Parts: sequence; C-alpha cells; structure tokens
Amino acid sequence: MNLNPLAEALNSDLSANGSSILQMLSEKGKAIFFPSKGILGQGGEAKGKEINATIGTALEDDGSPLVLPSVLKSLNMPKQSFLYAPSYGNPDIRDAWKAQVIRKNPSLEGKSFSRPVVTAALTHAISMAGYLFLDPNDKVIIPDLYWDNYELVFENAYGAKIQTYNTFKNGGFDVEALEEALNKDGIGKKVLLLNFPNNPTGYTATEEEAKKITEVLVRAAEKGNKVVALLDDAYFGLVYEDGVTRESLFTKLLDAHKDILAVKLDGPTKEDYVWGFRVGFMTFGFKGATPEQLKALESKAAGAVRGNISNAPNISQLILLAAYNSPEYVKEKEEKYAVLKKRYDIIQETLASHPEYSEAFEPMPFNSGYFMCVKPKGVDAEAVRVELLQNYSTGTIMLKGLLRLAFSAVPTAKLPQLFDNVYHAILALKSK
Ligand SMILES: Cc1ncc(COP(=O)(O)O)c(C=O)c1O
Repeated sequence: MNLNPLAEALNSDLSANGSSILQMLSEKGKAIFFPSKGILGQGGEAKGKEINATIGTALEDDGSPLVLPSVLKSLNMPKQSFLYAPSYGNPDIRDAWKAQVIRKNPSLEGKSFSRPVVTAALTHAISMAGYLFLDPNDKVIIPDLYWDNYELVFENAYGAKIQTYNTFKNGGFDVEALEEALNKDGIGKKVLLLNFPNNPTGYTATEEEAKKITEVLVRAAEKGNKVVALLDDAYFGLVYEDGVTRESLFTKLLDAHKDILAVKLDGPTKEDYVWGFRVGFMTFGFKGATPEQLKALESKAAGAVRGNISNAPNISQLILLAAYNSPEYVKEKEEKYAVLKKRYDIIQETLASHPEYSEAFEPMPFNSGYFMCVKPKGVDAEAVRVELLQNYSTGTIMLKGLLRLAFSAVPTAKLPQLFDNVYHAILALKSK
C-alpha cells in the first residue's frame, strides 16, 4: 500500500532512535495521518484574512455564526459554541485535561507524555485505539470480567479477537493469569486492556498488584514483545479503600520500558458525571519518547478522529472547560465522590451485618467505581435477575453468571433493600 507522504513522515518519526512504536501500529494505524495540508491546513492559513472563503460553516454578514434562534434559546452559551472544534480537540481543554491528569496523578509531575487528543467519549477513544493498533485477527488480552461493549468495538469493528484470562484469584487480581495470557502465542505484538476501576466488578488493583502488573509487562517487553497497554480509566478517581491504587497505571507504564506503549483512555463521562456530553481523551507515553514521537501519535489519533467523526462536540468541550476553570469544581467533585463513597460504605455495612447472605450469594471483590457484583449460589444468575424483576421490582444486570449491581444509580436509603431483595429472590428460587 502506498502511504501518503504525511503518513510516511509520521512513521519515520515513530521509528526514529530505534523505537518500535511503528511496529505496534495496525495497517490502518500506519497509513493514517492528520491531513494538515488539505482543507484544514488551507483554512488555517486563511485565518484573519479580509475575505475568508475557506471554511464549511455558515456565517452572518457580520461574521458571527449563522444560527437558528429556536436552537440558541435553549442554551446559555455564546454563538461560537455552534462552531466546529478542531479534530485534535479544543486546545484549551486538552491542556486543562493534561493539567488535571497530573494533579490527580502526582507522580506524573515532570514526566513526558503526549497532549491528550479529544475523542467523542471513551467508547470512541477505545475504538480509535482499535483503529490504530488492531488488525483483523489480532488478539486483545482482557480479564474475563469485562465491559461487554469491548466486543462490538474490538471484534465487530476491527475483526480482532478478545482473549480472556481469569480476573480474580484469592480475593484479588489474578496477575499470574495475565502473565500466562501474555506468554501465549509466542513473541510478538501484545495488545492488552486494563480497566480500573472495573466495569462490571468495581475492582481496582491494589498498590501491590499494580506494581506486579507493571513487572509482568516489563518482563513481557524484555522478552522481545511489543506491548500496547490500553488503560480504560473511565471510572478514574472513584476509589474507596486504602491500599488501592489512586493513580492510573499510566503513571507506572509510561516510562517502564521502550517497548511498552501506554495509552490512557479517559474522560469526563463518569468522572465528571456528563454521560451524554460525549467527550473523552487519548493520551500516549512510552520510555524514551521524543516530543516528535509523541506529536506523531497525537497526529495519528487526530487523523483517525478526523476520518471517523471529524471532531467531538464543541459545545460539550466548552461547557467542560468552563467547569474546569471554575473555583468550585474540585470541591463539587469531592461532594459527589462522597455520595458514592457513602453508598459503598453502606453496602459494606449491609454485607457485614447480614452473615446469612452468604448462604445465597458471594460478593465479588470490589473497592471502587460505580458497580459491584454478586455470585448467586446454587441458582442461575439469569433466573435471579428475572425473579428480581418479576417479584421484587428490582432491576440488575446478569453477566457471566454474576449479577451486577450499579450502586451508583440506587438511592442510598434503598441499598439495604436491594441486597435483601437479592437474598430473598435467591432463597425463593432455591425453594422452588
Ligand atoms: C469500562 C467502561 N469503559 C468505557 C465506557 C464508555 O464510556 P463513554 O460513555 O464515555 O463512551 C464505559 C461505559 O459504561 C465503561 O463502563
């Protein structure tokens, strides 16, 4: 395949200094580039000219965006918010997000990593990672309790295959199973995804486990593997126990080894409670990365965004940016964290004060996020789900033999009832 010279230029940056990042890219990833010389480049060059007939937006005779008052009336936003954002994302929100990632992950201070590229939220960021790193039949190594949408993104969209390994062992993350999964199929490119806090389990690796996971990935790289570590940090920041990693694994992986590329996929969807805004970020880091190499990865990501959705919603980016610049923002986040942490504490108390629940179900390890899972004993989880719906007016999700309980969505006062309902539904099924 003949590559565009702009793609060739990015690829040559990526393979400079003996770096193996280019080998980690998919064929699509190798071919993609940001079309800086096309309409966007020419439009940029025309900025500020007396007559600018370049851009595909409609302007009034006074140069302001041409908008419909019936649309504008619902918004307390300037007309400028109707315009496109750049494919890389609004530059100010990119910088604000990077500054926040460093504030929330203090060990990143002084470390070199890319500017975040804006996506249309995390699903899209994950999909863009698939675009850049996965060819048909490539494997994506994921613990077996995973968010089911990875299947549509990685398998249906890119033809990759999800290869699972055991998630939990002895009440914690099964790091050995991860290592075994990486050791399968010989030496080569290894794409893996880690999601902490996890959907569905609500589990985040402990400090000890995070160290071990890093060691496992470094060992894999030392053997000659090219490791792409996709970090789905959707629920970042919602950790409720001591000894559990408060920082993203990105902090450990971005300078762990030259053949480990850390790709942080995160965003405000769950962290800032803006599910429908559709803004997310993709950030890259690897040991020894030069500024040109980080920029080349940003350009590949922005090119993929450009060819896919063109750009993420400007209005959402502007609303979020205003929030990030508000003095109350950090405090407000603490208040919402406290709401979820209280629910977590009440669940722990409920479980502790009802030893009889262990006849009916076993809670899976959880310490963070929006969810927790229980494993029904002696009855089918799907039957419990249906029983809860039909006779207890209670909705849950059945997934891989577990019931996922989204405590993020249940009023605090109803949590004891939720567990009581699960308990009685299981007993009722057992006695049938
Ligand atoms: C683990 C995980 N990753 C990503 C997402 C998708 O987030 P977004 O709504 O930002 O696309 C979700 C949403 O449920 C999730 O649970």
